[in-house]
Amino acid sequence: SAAREPIGVIGTGYVGLVTAAGFAELGSDVVCVDIDAEKVARLNRGEIPIYEPGLAELVAKNRERLTFTTDIAPALERARLLFVAVGTPPTYSGDADLSAVNAVVGAMPASDRHALVMKSTVPVGTGANTKRLFAEQGKSGFRYVSCPEFLKEGTAVADFLAPDRVVVGDDGDWAGDAVVDLYRPLLVPDEGGNGPGQLVRTDIASAEMVKLASNAFLATKISFINEIANVCEETGADVVEVARGMGLDERIGPKFLNAGIGFGGSCFPKDVTALKQLAGNSGYHFQLLNSVIEVNELQKRRVIGKLEKHLGGLVGKRIALLGLAFKPNTDDMREASSLVLAARLQAAGADVVAHDPISGEVAKPMLRGVELAPDALSAAHGADAVVLVTEWQEFRDLDLADLRAAMRGDVLIDGRNALDGEAAVAAGLRYEGIGRTARSAAPAAAGV
Ligand code: UDX
Repeated sequence: SAAREPIGVIGTGYVGLVTAAGFAELGSDVVCVDIDAEKVARLNRGEIPIYEPGLAELVAKNRERLTFTTDIAPALERARLLFVAVGTPPTYSGDADLSAVNAVVGAMPASDRHALVMKSTVPVGTGANTKRLFAEQGKSGFRYVSCPEFLKEGTAVADFLAPDRVVVGDDGDWAGDAVVDLYRPLLVPDEGGNGPGQLVRTDIASAEMVKLASNAFLATKISFINEIANVCEETGADVVEVARGMGLDERIGPKFLNAGIGFGGSCFPKDVTALKQLAGNSGYHFQLLNSVIEVNELQKRRVIGKLEKHLGGLVGKRIALLGLAFKPNTDDMREASSLVLAARLQAAGADVVAHDPISGEVAKPMLRGVELAPDALSAAHGADAVVLVTEWQEFRDLDLADLRAAMRGDVLIDGRNALDGEAAVAAGLRYEGIGRTARSAAPAAAGV
């Protein structure tokens, strides 16, 4: 088979590192550039700075195809395509902070043989702005491709290698063709590959919008089922049964209908706000997204109300949180519901103790005054109430009689509907999930 095109990847965070290792696995030489010299040094020593299942193995396996450097020059020298995967954190207003992206744009030389391939999640219009900047800086030969990333933390490697779709937005030039060729092996047979990926080749603005709209839609789905859950609590219905019944309608689908204590992570909160701001900046008031965000904030706090109801107040009560990361199989604490919960419990006078299988070290500086326990049962030791915050498998597997025996009180709030409510009641616990009562509560199926 033909030699694979070498590429550069700028930014070695989650998206950059997975993209680099993924394309190396497909046969490309990849020059990874990051301004963080310490991170580059660690990567050169073979250390992976983030926890992502399968990533260390993929990097190690393709080590000879991967170069890590703080210098952009070797990337420009060896590659035509420079994938940009730098951070676009929210600013105070909720707009995406494009300073890192703009620094990359500014660092590019005048060239007719290079293209920026944007992986970072950016506002619609960033491609057009970048092309304008290039023109102003006398670099109008520099091509631009929007190629949004849809990987999920925890399954990022698998998501890269088996994408649902590959979105390529460009001006119909060599750069777009080259990006499609890189992804070819992952595309469906009709597109010349042997993977599941459907190709969406489109204009730059539409590609940019696909990413924001997809994340906003998924966030909407979660806030929607969370509100259904809240109504279920008032009416005696069980949201897990309701979601099952809804999800069998092919137009709805079963995924992202798990009610819980709200969504977090590096993407959903940021992208929903960014899309709302983007719409607002262009004069359109995106009504629905305001509610999606507000419902998510309220959902994190509802657990406090449940605890108050069961414990008759929170002052001096010992509350154990099981799970801190924003979802299982990651150490990522960004926008984690646990942060809001811990802070509010402390403000209400409770003592908070927590355990997370891996995010403890990351979480420590963010959770002042929260005691970190080495395992779930030690966290539960002497607690008046236990709250399941993140549905790690080891919590699903907990022996609920052991849990009850470790506790001082008997309240178990299942913030992810991941535990067996009947078993909890049988173990002598006062169980409450989200949008269901113990009477009906069997654990929701994992992994949807
Ligand atoms: C998400 C998108 O899924 C991905 O396509 C995009 O590229 C980045 O953002 P990620 O942030 O890794 O990925 O996590 P995801 O698995 O989507 O979960 C996001 C949050 O929603 C988590 O806090 C999770 O607990 C919550 N969630 C998810 C629910 O509360 N209910 C659900 O049914 C699904």
